[in-house]
Amino acid sequence: MSVDELQQIKNIVVLMAMQEEANPMINSLRLIENQTVLSSQLPFKCFQTKLTKSHLTIITSGIDHRHQVDNIGCEAATLMAYESIKQLNPDIIISAGTAGGFSEQGAMIGSVYASRNYFVFHDRIVPLAGFKESAVGKFPAANIDKMTKDLNMPTGVISTGSSLEKNSKEHFILDEHAAVAKEMEAAAIAWVAMLHEIPMFAIKSITNLVDQQNQSEKEFIKNFDYSAKCLHDKLIEVIDYLQGKKISELA
Ligand code: ADE
Repeated sequence: MSVDELQQIKNIVVLMAMQEEANPMINSLRLIENQTVLSSQLPFKCFQTKLTKSHLTIITSGIDHRHQVDNIGCEAATLMAYESIKQLNPDIIISAGTAGGFSEQGAMIGSVYASRNYFVFHDRIVPLAGFKESAVGKFPAANIDKMTKDLNMPTGVISTGSSLEKNSKEHFILDEHAAVAKEMEAAAIAWVAMLHEIPMFAIKSITNLVDQQNQSEKEFIKNFDYSAKCLHDKLIEVIDYLQGKKISELA
């Protein structure tokens, strides 16, 4: 166990792709926008507060002003992770947001999953020795077994891709790793966290059931508000749980 794992968590960074996913947290914890923290070249937004035993920063991906939509996906997520590590030196990073789930795994709309073991990419298909495994990633998820048990949260492998729409090949990797959630940022963040040896986990609320006859994008829109509320409620519990804890006490 590293020395860092035995020290109290003082600095929590939560990365969220969509502003609408983050707003319930920003409002209920009264986070204050602070645009002096991150490079002004970057589109990200930064919100901060001091909690009882730690500092909390939520970073959102900001807006693609050409289209007036959030900068969702792996490219912005990678950069958010890197910039937040360089500027804030977090003790722990959380990737929080919405995801597709699987009724076969017991998911319902608004189920909130935590990551377990590792993260994969389900749409990076490179059939060449070494590149194949590297593309899938398998980046480590922090061990939060005790926390998820105490908070009664379902857990599993979370898988990342660059499409919301269902894709005919994604089920190969999703099935192989028995993924419990399919989203668009976590593995990218996990890669950067791994490079910097910072513990990282994900909390994902289900907006749509991928293994049912439906269009993910329609279900996503229909269920977003409810799923975002469920995400908020669980994330509040998680942030509260982290107060005064050491990383080693989450396992
Ligand atoms: N976010 C929410 N639902 C998703 C899905 N089905 N695929 C990718 N990202 C998602």
